[in-house]
Amino acid sequence: MAMVCLSDFEAYAKKYLPKIAWDFFAAGADDCSTRDENILAYKRICFRPRVLRDVSMMDIRTKLLGNEISFPVGIAPTGFHQLAWPDGEKSTARAAKAMNTCYIVSTYSTCTLEEISAAAPSGLRWFQLYIHRNRAVSQQLVQRAEASGFQGLVLTVDLPYTGKRRDDVRNGFCLPPHMKLKNLEGAFEVCKMSPLDPSVTWNDIYWLQSLTHLPIIIKGILTKEDAERAVRHGVQGIIVSNHGGRQLDGGPATIDALVEVVEAVQGRVEVYLDGGIRKGSDVLKALALGARCVFIGRPALWGLAYK
Ligand code: FNR
Repeated sequence: MAMVCLSDFEAYAKKYLPKIAWDFFAAGADDCSTRDENILAYKRICFRPRVLRDVSMMDIRTKLLGNEISFPVGIAPTGFHQLAWPDGEKSTARAAKAMNTCYIVSTYSTCTLEEISAAAPSGLRWFQLYIHRNRAVSQQLVQRAEASGFQGLVLTVDLPYTGKRRDDVRNGFCLPPHMKLKNLEGAFEVCKMSPLDPSVTWNDIYWLQSLTHLPIIIKGILTKEDAERAVRHGVQGIIVSNHGGRQLDGGPATIDALVEVVEAVQGRVEVYLDGGIRKGSDVLKALALGARCVFIGRPALWGLAYK
């Protein structure tokens, strides 16, 4: 079958992935209202199409913190890529490099940061961090990311506790024994108490800044108040995100939260968005409302699962 849109890849992944992996990728928190809103919200936004502009030459390149990418769609951080494809994050890195875009590598990768870097040496990569109770674990990860050529640090702030994803609970979701969270080996056991620190506050941004020269991008901002605070704390970028609806259910679609964040920031830092991007027209809407670039989460996993 010809694959003509992301829904085709979604249908393929649903058909061929083991159910437990599909369910994990698809999951949203609670009754999935926010996950679904991320997509529905785009349907409520209409273009005001203008015509008779010379569009014979189109240039869709953009820059993320000074680094050029070929088009304004990057890959959001998602964990456990080996559930979709044996080579896991190494394949994702190669694909991002081939398309000349940015790949944000998750803390919960099934390949090491060094393996991912070696798979696509000159690709633009940012490292996504969760702050662990054991701060030495986070500190080492940041230092390893910097040493292996990552060019930005994405701090995810919307996961003090993991959302209740009902299918994962029903399935007793856990990584298969032959897969490992390779960057955290020895740091904790995956299915026991969460190793993430729920006591993190804005002051921890200063702690991170003291560890690294990398620019810090904060992921999971949905309000103008928090956007203002992020700018005051010296971050270089904001990702408007609700974690693909996997965390707090009942919050806004990201495209609906974008405008107030963009207004609060007033061009002082770059603003990006993820959540529910499934078509070129979704990208255009996000850009028209002030995002510099968008990121895709689940669609990249569907692509990874495609043979
Ligand atoms: C995620 N997301 C995520 N975010 C993050 O900061 N660190 C992570 O490890 C993960 N892991 C993860 C796994 C899976 C399976 C999914 C679907 C998502 C959230 C991700 O970065 C992004 O915010 C959403 O996926 C964007 O929504 P769409 O594009 O999936 O609709």
